[in-house]
Amino acid sequence: MTDTPYNFDTCPDRTGYGSLKWDKYKDLDILPLWVADMDFTTAPEIIAALQQRLDHGIYGYTIPYEAPIQAVLDYLDRQHGYNAKGHWLNFLPGLVPAINLCCHAYVAADESVMTATPVYPPFLGAPDYANRELIKTQLCLDANDHWTLDFDAMEAAVKPNTKLFILCSPHNPVGRVYTRGELTRLGDFCEKHDLILISDEIHCDLIFDDNAQHIVTVKLSESLAARTVTLMAPSKTYNLPGLACAFSIIENSKLRLQFQKTIRGIITEVNCFGYAGCEAAYNLGEPWRQALLSYLRGNYELTYKFIKTQIPGITFRPMESTYLAWFDVTRLELENPVGFFEDNGVGLSDGIPFDGIQHLRLNFGCPRSRLLEGLEKMAAALSNR
Ligand SMILES: Cc1ncc(COP(=O)(O)O)c(C=O)c1O
Repeated sequence: MTDTPYNFDTCPDRTGYGSLKWDKYKDLDILPLWVADMDFTTAPEIIAALQQRLDHGIYGYTIPYEAPIQAVLDYLDRQHGYNAKGHWLNFLPGLVPAINLCCHAYVAADESVMTATPVYPPFLGAPDYANRELIKTQLCLDANDHWTLDFDAMEAAVKPNTKLFILCSPHNPVGRVYTRGELTRLGDFCEKHDLILISDEIHCDLIFDDNAQHIVTVKLSESLAARTVTLMAPSKTYNLPGLACAFSIIENSKLRLQFQKTIRGIITEVNCFGYAGCEAAYNLGEPWRQALLSYLRGNYELTYKFIKTQIPGITFRPMESTYLAWFDVTRLELENPVGFFEDNGVGLSDGIPFDGIQHLRLNFGCPRSRLLEGLEKMAAALSNR
């Protein structure tokens, strides 16, 4: 890229660093385009802040402190027009533990949890791990062929004992940014059925379509805010998941206390590098994020055009956010889609754990040349079979 000081075209080799993404196919000639972990080095501003923290030389127990708290509050206000309070926050080592905790904190053994699929697999695992019933409905396509929540199906499926709705906004894996209308309707649904809304907004700063805008769910109304647990993190946007720093925002003091009680003794503290990375990401990361979005937009457009012209057997609907492309491969008539592409050198995420049979998810958060290599291998595999 020529118009930015940041380089997304080349990335360091991750061999020997225990990378989940790359070690899955260690010593195999398979390009990993699966788990939601980008290949890019993070913003140099964040690396410098981490270096400074490293140079301090003391890595003791760390409690939430003013600088990262203020960085989060400033970011929420600046980026999302959300005027949150410091005591609404809980720092956590990840959103997945938070989703699991919510199933324990708010749902009794004879109550149920609802979500809309296909969705990030831990949404489906969390109720199960807590021995709570899971109710799932499928997303549907609207008149514009966009994925959306199927409110008729949700009305039919919700039960008197349903306690939670877990929302992914923006939605992984379909890349939708829900509109005010869709979120308002969901809020009405939660109020009508007296549900607590768990709003996972981890992808909210990864919107590459200029026509889409993220709406922080709690901003819709005070009554919805009173029944919502918002979950966010700088990890997806700035490629910091290994630093294990996320946070919940719970306005309702009763829900917040229930959550905090469930955490006690179970969840570890966020480590000093997590706080330093979070603070730097929100205070200093914006120029890098803008450059990243521009690069991701290019990668998305390349993927979209390539699939339409070279692999029309895959249905790939337009998306607005994330770096995760959701492919419907039904028409390819492959018995084992993920195995077929692995055998031909491309490692994709299997749709089945997302509740998306005959679907695959491709991570385009990588150098463009690597993405093109993966897409070309997919096309070649299909034409040679
Ligand atoms: C919707 C969603 N929530 C949570 C996570 C992961 O959260 P964490 O790494 O903080 O546990 C992901 C990762 O891809 C995700 O897509």
